[in-house]
Amino acid sequence: MQQFGVIGLSVMGKNLALNVRNHGFSVSGYSIDKPEVEAFAKYEDDKLKAYDDLKEFVNSLERPRKILIQIMAGAPVDEVIHNLLPLLDKGDILIDGGNSQYKDTNRRYHELEKHGIHFIGMGVSGGEEGALNGPALMPGGDEEAYNEVAPILEAIAAKNAEGKPCVSYMGPEGAGHYVKMVHNGIEYAIMQEFSEVYNLLRDVAHKSDDEMSEIFDKWNHGKVEAYLSEITANVLKQKDDLTDDHVIDHILNVASYKGTGNWMLEDGVSLGAPISVIAEAVIARFMSKQAHLALESGIKPTKFESEETLPDNLVDEFENTLQLAQAVAYAQGFQQLTMAAKAYNWDLRYKSIAQNWEAGCIIRSSMLKDIENAYEGGKPLMNLFQDDYFRNLMKTNLPSLRKSVEFATKAGVPTPTLSASLNYLESIFNPNLPANLIQGQRDYFGAHTYQRNDREGTFHTEWYEEK
Ligand code: 6PG
Repeated sequence: MQQFGVIGLSVMGKNLALNVRNHGFSVSGYSIDKPEVEAFAKYEDDKLKAYDDLKEFVNSLERPRKILIQIMAGAPVDEVIHNLLPLLDKGDILIDGGNSQYKDTNRRYHELEKHGIHFIGMGVSGGEEGALNGPALMPGGDEEAYNEVAPILEAIAAKNAEGKPCVSYMGPEGAGHYVKMVHNGIEYAIMQEFSEVYNLLRDVAHKSDDEMSEIFDKWNHGKVEAYLSEITANVLKQKDDLTDDHVIDHILNVASYKGTGNWMLEDGVSLGAPISVIAEAVIARFMSKQAHLALESGIKPTKFESEETLPDNLVDEFENTLQLAQAVAYAQGFQQLTMAAKAYNWDLRYKSIAQNWEAGCIIRSSMLKDIENAYEGGKPLMNLFQDDYFRNLMKTNLPSLRKSVEFATKAGVPTPTLSASLNYLESIFNPNLPANLIQGQRDYFGAHTYQRNDREGTFHTEWYEEK
């Protein structure tokens, strides 16, 4: 009998199955796609079996069965669950490892509970390489069922610097997929922040691709030690197969997306979470599709000011800028998690979430250790910048962020996420934001009432004489 089953044998499913087998567990794989099954069958040995028949696959597994569904999110997941249900027994465990919308996971969790089937919605990060050699895993749902599969998940997960596996129980219902959605929102934000600095280095500082690659590499060995810095350096230096140029200069500047960033925004809006940087990053992808319309319309891009405006220590200023902007991206992500935990009655463990992201995932960086420390001992932070380390980082790096935004503004280069980071930091600890005027306006045109800063109660002013 096999210890673990995987449904869906495209690159992620296949690699996760191989990862399970490589850690000494026996695994069965199933797919509706015959060529996928054939490709998987090439790895067959006493610990790995390939199936093209769902019933045979299910019957090959020891009970309680542990089955990972690794297919496209959405309706296909419901279809697979529907086909599996008559073949399963009470107590079996299903894990959805796709990028499912957390509300679907909530629904599936409760539906399957009625059938006595344990459901785990699990975020998986790290791409195909991570799936094979160590992904970050974010499982949520049934905690008892998680404990049953934990030995396998801990074996296959990436390990952080202290050797701890990047997997732990995230919380009930769809909490695992929620955490993955927030991971992706942060991913969008940091990618966009890097793109904006790339834009400044390229168009204002006139750095070559190789120079920019070296700069990102330097930052990766400095204050912005992160997987995304590392790959940015690699992307920038890659030569093209089709021309003599660097490939980056021939990649069309229209950004795609599959929706997880958008979902985070939708949920953030419903919670009232001030995730402005993540919002700007999502919108920047929408905006990238509009840029070409502007080009076709003949509207000229902004002219840059001369190089005289370049700060002397540009590279260091940008490094400080990115370090702080990256912290804001994480802070906004954690802020939304905190608000979601309250609204959905989930006990989210922020320290574990930070630790989970320290290796294997796309947003891994050395800063996550500082975030883990900030949440040490279950410290209840509403905002990451309440922590001493991040408060100091803000104090030290804010002048650089301000300078970078000022510099970009003068040069006519849009910096939606860097500017939003600055505005966020200028706002969160500011007790004098001008919302009093908004309240006055609301009360003026709609008698919506307001509260006062000098006494309790609800007030309305007769602003004008009715005619
Ligand atoms: C990961 C990534 C991954 C995501 C891609 C593409 O953690 O491995 O988040 O799950 O699907 O990054 O996302 P977009 O197509 O939306 O950019």
